[in-house]
Amino acid sequence: MSTTPFQLETIAADYLASRLLPNQSASVGIILGTGLGQWVEDMDDFSAVDYKQIPGFARTNVQSHAGRLCAGKVQNTPVLALQGRFHLYEGYSPDDVCFGLRTLAILGVKTIVITNAAGALNPLFQAGEIMVITDQINLTGRNPLLGLRYGEPQFPDMSQLFSSRLADLAHSSALQQGQRLQQGVYMGILGPSLETPAETRMFRQLGADAIGMSTVMETIAAKQMGLEILGLSCLTNKNLPDCMAPTSLEEIIAVGQDIGQRLGDLLNALIPDIAASH
Ligand code: HPA
Repeated sequence: MSTTPFQLETIAADYLASRLLPNQSASVGIILGTGLGQWVEDMDDFSAVDYKQIPGFARTNVQSHAGRLCAGKVQNTPVLALQGRFHLYEGYSPDDVCFGLRTLAILGVKTIVITNAAGALNPLFQAGEIMVITDQINLTGRNPLLGLRYGEPQFPDMSQLFSSRLADLAHSSALQQGQRLQQGVYMGILGPSLETPAETRMFRQLGADAIGMSTVMETIAAKQMGLEILGLSCLTNKNLPDCMAPTSLEEIIAVGQDIGQRLGDLLNALIPDIAASH
């Protein structure tokens, strides 16, 4: 067990600093979820290190997850990106799940854009839309700060987990491109099974607009490290309890790739705006 908080992440950050970011640092970091990772490869000055080469990184084994830590520039704005993430449902610990995010924070990232694939629960939303996350419900039963060995704050305030400032920027960047974003509450569950109709009804009644199996660990860890957070859910399917249709991972990935194109357009417009606003 590490004796000081983030010891392994600091080793990983030292390893990466010379390889990915010689003579510069990035203030914006991005986590790219299921089927959404393609976009990074179009960044200028693109470079990447496989997770398996980075000391301390867990091994990724889900088919759709490439597993690389990438650096590049979007209109001259340096960006660090996690292409692929680790999930609790794969058997990883909250520390494994948050390793990349914490490494980015140590590398100097101030803003983190966390993307995911999610199922829509709000009946007014459609599959194929992007939702700005306004708040979250962590229903995984896990917490990345368990053990109280991560330094201060030990009990981070969650009254504004997601930045409303960044949410406003996302809406205005999207509108400039003719995209309209939804907004709402993201529910994070453990998975890997999808929801029954009865669970879907319950989750909706609990106040969720979208549901997925990621993100809630990383947001809590990011808040603890003082990052400003923007969450974007790509709604790959829609779950209505009274007319549930079967959903498959293949379908989620296929729709995710389609939304991925629009997500990429949004990120290209948004990232320079975020960096300019720091
Ligand atoms: N449920 C849970 N996770 C998901 C879903 C869903 O419907 N779609 C994409 N990730």
